[in-house]
Amino acid sequence: RPRVLSGIQPTADSFHLGNYLGALRQWVALQDDHDAFYCVVDLHAITVEQNPAELRQRTRVSVAQLLALGIDPERSTLFVQSHVPEHAQLGWVMQCLTGFGEAGRMTQFKDKSARQAAEHVSVGLFTYPILQAADILLYQANRVPVGEDQRQHLELTRDLANRFNSRYSPTFTLPEAHIVKGTAKIYDLQDPAAKMSKSVPAGMIELLADPKASAKKIRSAVTDTEREIRFDAEHKAGISNLLTIYSSLTGKTVAELETQYAGQGYGDFKKDLGEVVIEWVTPIQDKVKSYLDDKAELDKIMQRGAERARHVAARTLAKVYKKIGFLPHG
Ligand code: TYM
Repeated sequence: RPRVLSGIQPTADSFHLGNYLGALRQWVALQDDHDAFYCVVDLHAITVEQNPAELRQRTRVSVAQLLALGIDPERSTLFVQSHVPEHAQLGWVMQCLTGFGEAGRMTQFKDKSARQAAEHVSVGLFTYPILQAADILLYQANRVPVGEDQRQHLELTRDLANRFNSRYSPTFTLPEAHIVKGTAKIYDLQDPAAKMSKSVPAGMIELLADPKASAKKIRSAVTDTEREIRFDAEHKAGISNLLTIYSSLTGKTVAELETQYAGQGYGDFKKDLGEVVIEWVTPIQDKVKSYLDDKAELDKIMQRGAERARHVAARTLAKVYKKIGFLPHG
């Protein structure tokens, strides 16, 4: 069975609708016919300063959300990145394979670093995509389900895999980005030209927020001055984004929704979508709660995941260490 790997950062109190529609929904679907590895990337989280107690809590809540969304720990290997030391170890090897200029071309670093004072920008934030490459390559993943914003990191991963394979000998599988066209970029509700992101709370729908407050955010989403509910990403970015969300959460096609809402105003449409969101998140929130209530079970799931992940990761790292000329020991 083909392998799939992906990761998500535990850097917010809740995942948001962009995370879900861009990536996590695909994580769940791919479990059926893939050997899946999914991790909560706490090593990546510390590229910006984290409060320790908050990081611990957010890591647990992240695992609970993945379970609630339908990641099945029996079928998939669900783990926390720092529990598998091979990530940091292969990360170092990959750093030594990456050109400084090559790393400097990563646009996400440019965006993220521009938002902070220079003295707060860590070297870790700069080398972040190289650690991400290690995450993927350790598991010999064939596919990596992510949103559009990760495309460039996947290109870097392939370049590094190719470089290692040709400098030494074939070692790494070349991974492909699994990016679903319609939902690869979910937009901010207040600024439909920007992607929905945890750095802009006003325009984001969180899985764990009060569902009524989320419905309200939908009702006050920025749209346009026309009246027609029609998909046109260029001229009607706000309505198109809402149509994408509505369609993904209900399984109705965009065309069906356009017909259903022909002649109706934006207000009715948004009100209905608010209800759809409430119906969707409420049972997920209940599940998250019950996973968080059983601490022992959650710990067991993380431990089992880490053991399974290490088994695969250690094999890859051993091959790499040997090929680059590190002396064997023990
Ligand atoms: P992160 O934690 O920022 O986001 C998790 C996933 O959500 C997707 N995403 C979106 N998709 C559509 N629309 C949006 N508005 C939106 N916002 C976020 C992201 O593309 C991502 O797939 N670097 C990664 C984490 C990572 C990783 C990995 C991913 C670390 N190692 C290995 C894949 C493989 C990140 O910061 O994702």
